[in-house]
Amino acid sequence: MAKKIIKARILHFLDPLDANVAKYEYFAQGGLLISDGIIEKCGPLSSLLPIMSEEISIIDYSDKLIIPGFVDTHIHYPQIDVIASPGKDLLDWLERFTFRSEAKYQNLDWALQSSEFFLEELLRNGTTTALVFGTVHSESAKALFTKAFERNVRLITGKVAMDRNCPDYLQDTPESSFEDALELIDNWHLKGRLQYAITPRFAITSSEAQLEKTAELARLYPDMVIQTHLAENVDEVAWMKELFPKHRSYLDVYDQYGLLRPNAVYAHCIYLDELDIKRLNTTQSSIAFCPSSNLFLGSGLMNLQHYLNEQIQVSLATDIGGGTSFSMLRTMGRAYEVAHLRGDVMSAFDLFNLATFTGAKALGLDQHIGNFMPGKEADFIVLDLKATPLMERRINACQTLEEELFVAIILGDDRNIQATYLMGEKKFERR
Ligand code: GUN
Ligand code: ZN
Repeated sequence: MAKKIIKARILHFLDPLDANVAKYEYFAQGGLLISDGIIEKCGPLSSLLPIMSEEISIIDYSDKLIIPGFVDTHIHYPQIDVIASPGKDLLDWLERFTFRSEAKYQNLDWALQSSEFFLEELLRNGTTTALVFGTVHSESAKALFTKAFERNVRLITGKVAMDRNCPDYLQDTPESSFEDALELIDNWHLKGRLQYAITPRFAITSSEAQLEKTAELARLYPDMVIQTHLAENVDEVAWMKELFPKHRSYLDVYDQYGLLRPNAVYAHCIYLDELDIKRLNTTQSSIAFCPSSNLFLGSGLMNLQHYLNEQIQVSLATDIGGGTSFSMLRTMGRAYEVAHLRGDVMSAFDLFNLATFTGAKALGLDQHIGNFMPGKEADFIVLDLKATPLMERRINACQTLEEELFVAIILGDDRNIQATYLMGEKKFERR
């Protein structure tokens, strides 16, 4: 059995069980014992001394901070070429930039090449698990699955269902979206660390017939992850009301089709009312908070603290290409600022928790990843908090771990990711 010990400062978050408050363990001189890619033990280095032997390799990151890999719960890989496109708002941005770029993903070669770039960029930013939108084309999902499988990335994606209110060249049909999903599930779902996600784009681009077929797929696979968009933009919500006049709310449309449940991830959720919030809570559906995207597209300021108070599971997401950075550190920074504009002050621990453990939980993956409990997959990142002269100076002035984490959130980005490990194997190292 291949065993290794990683020496470092180690921080991870535990399941708080009954509250949305971060609960963490920190070892200033820590050790991570990994056996065949799985965590065997995490604790003070001194607790591992008795088992040290010549057969166990030791990797020394003593002055660095190791945390579980980031979990990005909402990101569009076919939008890497539209990041930083200045739309007037969501609908304008989709129409003028995004749909056009997504058209290229019917070409498998293009999709494979983009998948390669996308996965490299995730690892370079310390993201080891992501819930990813493809395009309407099966090729997009096939390409990303192929490349993620080669690298052993724990990744969830799906072909997008969209059959109206978008350009003809991006439309499928209720039947084809169902059949294509079944074929992708057959070929890829639960292969290695991959999973399929049921992926209707949003209520606006699916006919009622397509939502019926989506409901059928969801019934066939009751544990499968569902991903879509919800209540992101004022004009989007108004359009939804015209299309679904009988529904009490936007959320109610998804509810009617049985799409609220554990492992269902709703991106944005800026414009919800109290009944919607209750319904998310009782169905254990979760929210992907996309602060950089919500700021960039001018969508609005999601009320993070209120959702946490109401015991809604909220995870953190970049939403590339509406979002402006692959970095979950930067995304935490934007989350802090959005909460601050609403009058709340988030702690650094809470934000790191959202980006790691809560993300894993939202995807139903907390049995496998999210922290360093024994038996979990050894997906972790090595953070260099002193990656630039300014960061070094500022970190040297810190008195506590929480101060250091806060500096990383506000000043940090991909430059702080020294190395990224998947199942105990180094897959990225910063030069
Ligand atoms: N709503 C429907 N499609 C999209 C998309 O691609 N990005 C964002 N941010 N919102 C959406
Ligand atoms: Zn999105």
